Amino acid sequence: MKNRQFNLTEQQLLEEIMLARRDVRGNRFSSDPVDHSIVKKILEAASWAPSVGFSQPWEFVVIKDKHIKQKVVDSFNRVNAEAKNQFSNDKQALYTKLKLEGIQEAPVNIAVFYRPSKLPVLGQSSMLETGRYSVVCAIQNMWLFARAMNIGMGWVSILEPSEVKSILNAPDDSEFIAYLCLGYVKEFLEKPELEQLKWEKRKPIQSSLYFDSY
Ligand SMILES: Cc1cc2nc3c(=O)[nH]c(=O)nc-3n(C[C@H](O)[C@H](O)[C@H](O)COP(=O)(O)O)c2cc1C
Repeated sequence: MKNRQFNLTEQQLLEEIMLARRDVRGNRFSSDPVDHSIVKKILEAASWAPSVGFSQPWEFVVIKDKHIKQKVVDSFNRVNAEAKNQFSNDKQALYTKLKLEGIQEAPVNIAVFYRPSKLPVLGQSSMLETGRYSVVCAIQNMWLFARAMNIGMGWVSILEPSEVKSILNAPDDSEFIAYLCLGYVKEFLEKPELEQLKWEKRKPIQSSLYFDSY
């Protein structure tokens, strides 16, 4: 493994996995159970992520209990009912048709928390938020590794963080970052669903790119 160099085929494989990763919602999960060894691999992949000062400030709650899931669905429904109002009328019509979570349909849910260190962290003194960014790096590792194992993952953010914390008995000093739904899928879409449904377009990288200064 030391100083391992990757060849073109391997680079293309990683590119393929990145391009094939999708956000998966309820209508596409299959009910096939996911073995715990697979969940463990995905969580191990999370732990290989970079983190500020190697602080590894992530914590995970694996949820399979349908009663607990239902409480999270209830929180989603409350927040989602309000969320559509921020969009213009024509977008509201499309919004109400979107399936934006797969909490019950996915056999495994994972809530991800940020647990700030009580001691100073190398690299975090002037940018406290780098702790949260580290947790998001772990989530991206999970998303890609899950896809490499043909497991779909969806990120649900239409939730009230204080409600999720209370449902899961999270400690006061933890911060809720993400609610993830995982499972085998009937179909991985070729393009983001929001692109297919014309909610958003993919930006060409040139439109986000500057050289030397803005
Ligand atoms: C931080 C974050 C929060 C998200 N929250 C939701 C959500 O609440 N519901 C949902 O359906 N998709 C959610 N998504 C998924 C995005 O809609 C999705 O990533 C985007 O449309 C691109 O599609 P793709 O992931 O399939 O490439 C979230 C993604 C991220 C990164």
